[in-house]
Amino acid sequence: MDLPPVGLGTMGIDDSATVEAAIDVGYRHLDTAQIYDNEAVVGDGVADSDVDREDLTVATKLWVDSLAGADVRAGTEASLDRLGLDAVDLLYVHRPRGDYDPETTLSALDDLRADGLARNVGLSNFEPDQLERAREVLDAPVAAHQVEFHPYYGDRELLADAQEHGYPLVAYSPLIGGEALDDPVLTDIADAHDTSAAAVSIAWVRSHDDVVTVPKASSVDHLRANLDARSLTLSGAEIDRIDDIEREQELFPE
Ligand SMILES: NC(=O)c1ccc[n+]([C@@H]2O[C@H](COP(=O)([O-])OP(=O)(O)OC[C@H]3O[C@@H](n4cnc5c(N)ncnc54)[C@H](OP(=O)(O)O)[C@@H]3O)[C@@H](O)[C@H]2O)c1
Repeated sequence: MDLPPVGLGTMGIDDSATVEAAIDVGYRHLDTAQIYDNEAVVGDGVADSDVDREDLTVATKLWVDSLAGADVRAGTEASLDRLGLDAVDLLYVHRPRGDYDPETTLSALDDLRADGLARNVGLSNFEPDQLERAREVLDAPVAAHQVEFHPYYGDRELLADAQEHGYPLVAYSPLIGGEALDDPVLTDIADAHDTSAAAVSIAWVRSHDDVVTVPKASSVDHLRANLDARSLTLSGAEIDRIDDIEREQELFPE
């Protein structure tokens, strides 16, 4: 899937004006989920914006209690109803647990794709062996894998899988949930570029091949700054410094 380098993470956004503002300043990929309880907010933002629906990539995720094969269609239809859309561009399995069963869950997702309710199938928070199994079962290609990936955490094996199999890794929590702003290495590099540690964190995430990201932001200033981070290029030495930060702080463990 051809995803924009920086999309909007919407977890915690409860005002459609923020979504509309994000689209207005240039975001074209919107990432929501059933569990964020804001699909209607995202749908309203899409409806209120001046940008054509077909120019936007709208992604949502089926929560673990909607993953039984018999529940996937009803759960997806409920999401579409809240979003006010006929189809989502990307429908993820949020986590491979709860009612997840590779055969029945993924077959149901293939059926939704065949029927046009979901244009692409994505996975999130999968382990390498679970990715392998999903590839065996799915008719659809894995369109994206969304995982936690930032200067304090990231699984290189999952990155290698994305690069080997040719799908984008969608890095979530690229600002370490806001902690990037207080990190001394990121702040130091930011000072040298006259930018923010948030931009440096996004640029580091984006320095990896086949990685796109979905920072969450609420204010127009933050929305713009994160989008502008697309044009920030870090030197090899700066990337090495960030690589050397201890990478053991997972914000969303299983
Ligand atoms: N698949 C999954 O299991 C999963 C799990 C977690 C997250 N996600 C996705 O990833 C998205 C992003 O992750 P996240 O929400 O955990 O955290 P994040 O994007 O790493 O950080 C968001 C925090 O950074 C602040 N911020 C944003 N831009 C800033 C800037 N330019 N300068 C200073 N502060 C800034 C935000 O504040 P303001 O809001 O005040 O701007 C917010 O407090 C989520 O919204 C969701 O879409 C997916």
